[in-house]
Amino acid sequence: MRARAYLPFALASVLALGALFGRQDAAPAAEEEPLVAQMKLIEEGMKALRRSVRAPERRAESLEWAVKLQAAAQACKVLPLPMAKELEGVEREALETAYRKEMIGFVAELLELELALLDGDVERARASHGRLSEMEDTGHERFVEDG
Ligand code: HEM
Repeated sequence: MRARAYLPFALASVLALGALFGRQDAAPAAEEEPLVAQMKLIEEGMKALRRSVRAPERRAESLEWAVKLQAAAQACKVLPLPMAKELEGVEREALETAYRKEMIGFVAELLELELALLDGDVERARASHGRLSEMEDTGHERFVEDG
């Protein structure tokens, strides 16, 4: 009986100690860059589109992704560029301008993808998807540290 009466206290102590040590062990959560969050969405969409652009019956799904990616890329265009944080003045402005222009090219290609999908032109849509993938490589080489 007495042991039973202590049980809630024992449980509370274990929980309190767990919370205390748990807090000490946990590293402070690093804030994710807003740009990275949008890029992850672009990555998900590009993966989905790789297959769906080949399937005319999945046109509605492909169109939905094309529009989502356009919105994400437009958001990326005006979000802070992590690489530019280390720079100042004209150097910083030049990098930010180059990045914004590259992103405009990416948005333009996403619009071309949408047009190809609307025309039901599978070959054109596949070629556009291929160019978007190449833009990922060139964009990252230029604007991602160690990219
Ligand atoms: C198909 C196109 C693209 C895909 C799938 C893609 C994917 C990604 C992913 C997954 C990340 C996050 C990496 C991480 O976990 O830290 C990222 C970051 C980034 N991407 Fe892209 N990307 C694409 C196109 C582009 C383009 C066209 C540009 C430039 C115009 C660009 C510039 C960047 C930048 C600046 C970062 C942030 C890097 C940092 O944290 O400093 N990406 N991208």
